[in-house]
Amino acid sequence: MTERFEVEVERILPGGMGLAHAGGKTVFVSLAAPGDRVRVRVDRRQGDVLFASIEEILTPSPVRVEPPCPYFGRCGGCDFQQLPYEVQLATKADMIRDCLRRIGRLENIPDFVVTGSPDNWRYRMRATWQIDQEERTIGYYERGSRRVCDVADCAVLLPELQEKLEQVRATEWNRFPRGLKHLDVVAGENGVSFAPPFAEFDTRELMLTIRGEVYNYNAEAFFQINPSLLGPLIDFALGDASGETVLDLYCGVGLFTLPLSRRFKKVIGVEANSSAARFARRNLQRAGLTNARVITATVTDWFRSDGTGPVDFILLDPPRAGAESAVIKGILDLGPAEISYVSCDPATLARDLKKLVGSYTITSIRGFDLFPQTHHVETVVRLRKQ
Ligand SMILES: C[S@@+](CC[C@H](N)C(=O)[O-])C[C@H]1O[C@@H](n2cnc3c(N)ncnc32)[C@H](O)[C@@H]1O
Repeated sequence: MTERFEVEVERILPGGMGLAHAGGKTVFVSLAAPGDRVRVRVDRRQGDVLFASIEEILTPSPVRVEPPCPYFGRCGGCDFQQLPYEVQLATKADMIRDCLRRIGRLENIPDFVVTGSPDNWRYRMRATWQIDQEERTIGYYERGSRRVCDVADCAVLLPELQEKLEQVRATEWNRFPRGLKHLDVVAGENGVSFAPPFAEFDTRELMLTIRGEVYNYNAEAFFQINPSLLGPLIDFALGDASGETVLDLYCGVGLFTLPLSRRFKKVIGVEANSSAARFARRNLQRAGLTNARVITATVTDWFRSDGTGPVDFILLDPPRAGAESAVIKGILDLGPAEISYVSCDPATLARDLKKLVGSYTITSIRGFDLFPQTHHVETVVRLRKQ
């Protein structure tokens, strides 16, 4: 029988769930606000932790707001719409701090803020739209399931992507490639790119200018989600770094590689996705930057097979899983004077920092809210060799 009971949500945990306790058990409540008194339904249990959904809000948290999106709760995309934007930012700072303390076992964490996004709705320039050809639905996975939530209007998409979502949705089903299950889309200054291409939706090459650097990319290569904070993100991640040699690990299409090439004599970028690596090379070439080399390899393989001489600065920006152990070991062996770790997951960031702080001191931290209305947050940690 489904278990139901009343709890009070104490705080929001990294990962975005509300923390509550009932009958000696820990309860993780989805889509909660701190201070909510709610009746929950247990969806599943994992060890001693119960994962629950709100059935009824008995006394709403004083900070709770009405989520404006009609798909909120069903769509698996946004999970913070119940929180006002300033509470989202404060919660994300707490999440980062919590991970650094609990997972990273770090003490004396420097004070930091999470910089808000100038646009906290209609900001997303990249998305993956799920497609169910049998059900004839297009949108995002439903919360906790692989069913596609049919989304006609996504409130966090840039207007030009929303327009394309409507065009894709208006396309006759017989024009979709058989078996197409999802579509990657990304916007730029000169249109929208789709992968895979179909009907009139092509994998066109796009352009975006950030801090005077021109980046070309398409929907096959990683590009950051929120263009409005990329300038400040680059500024903080690079600080006043300059010198002889720099490594840009997990470099994508070269977001940091281009500005690094203007400050260092020699730059090595490493990127596993061949399409992204090709764009990075072309972006450097078009900018006339001949002092950078981009290698197509996993960072682990590159560390295994390649030796560089001394390195002054390492910037790493791994995917959510963080850096592989061999990569952290490789960084420690190279022993650069400074490291800048750009992360989209505070938990894996904290795990990796734990291994670095024996030899490095954290000099500064800043969060960047690249993902408003969701629990996700970008964090940059700057470290100096002890
Ligand atoms: C978070 S993105 C950062 C990209 C770039 N720094 C930027 O800001 O646009 C992570 C990048 O790492 C690449 N990647 C994932 N796993 C990798 C690995 N094991 N080795 C090298 N690159 C990897 C992805 O293709 C992606 O481009």
